[in-house]
Amino acid sequence: MSSKPALLDVVQEYIHAQTTRLPVFNRTGLVIQQEMSKPEPSFQVLEREISRDQALTSQLLRTANSAFYRGMRPISTIRDAILRLGTEEVANIVSMLTQQELFRTNDPFLRRYMNDLWLHSVCCASGTYWLTKRLKMPSETPKAFFAGLLHDVGKLFLLRVIEELQRSKKIDMAMTPEFLQELIANQHAAQGYELMQHWNIPKEYCVVARDHHLESFDVNDTLLALVRLANAACAKLGIGLHQDDNIDLASCKEAMILDISEVKLAELEIRLEDTLSFLNANLESPATVQQEES
Ligand SMILES: [Fe+2]
Ligand SMILES: [Fe+2]
Repeated sequence: MSSKPALLDVVQEYIHAQTTRLPVFNRTGLVIQQEMSKPEPSFQVLEREISRDQALTSQLLRTANSAFYRGMRPISTIRDAILRLGTEEVANIVSMLTQQELFRTNDPFLRRYMNDLWLHSVCCASGTYWLTKRLKMPSETPKAFFAGLLHDVGKLFLLRVIEELQRSKKIDMAMTPEFLQELIANQHAAQGYELMQHWNIPKEYCVVARDHHLESFDVNDTLLALVRLANAACAKLGIGLHQDDNIDLASCKEAMILDISEVKLAELEIRLEDTLSFLNANLESPATVQQEES
């Protein structure tokens, strides 16, 4: 008998057990997201919440001063950052920096997957945000980065489950890339949906995690179409756990729904490549940070 079904059984049993340890959503990230969902987010709440976290503050200032965001003079306080970049961009950076913690691992086999998934998540978030700006969709803009960042959170959860099973020696057979790919492909959307519900994330984001690979999806859900298009562009460029050179963005259902031109699609690809370069040049990957700490 093949070991694969047995391994899958162990993983599924673990996922459904009451004892499964779910990743914890960063408190500051959640408070900032809740504030941003209000019609008029408070400048003071953002400043206060970010300033409470010294490590986050220094990471945010370093990011705000990188070439990707930099203005004429350096940003030295959270207030400066909010005034210069705006509440939305600062909230996006906070979401990115606080989520990054969840992608750290000591497991050498999983490290590459975590790193690729991190790059994919941030690029998809950046691409979704850019689309709402370029297509002039102000009602979607405040939600875009967060929705893109979390659309594949089910993959993160599954990688965490595998890490925990290996660490606790509940599985003693070698993990193969093929098994991992299959597990992720079949399970990540449903697991992401459940995890986000557990985190009490608003329903519209949970739906994006659940439906972003469905053949048949709600064509009236603009946020979903935006994330799906950015996700497809990432896959076309090979930003993430897989690459698909055959994707023709112009003929995607999502491009039709959003009525986006080929010129703008080409600009989207440039935006994603710029974001990837920014991440590689300015932010330590979660895996690199972990290697240095261990
Ligand atoms: Fe996905
Ligand atoms: Fe994705």
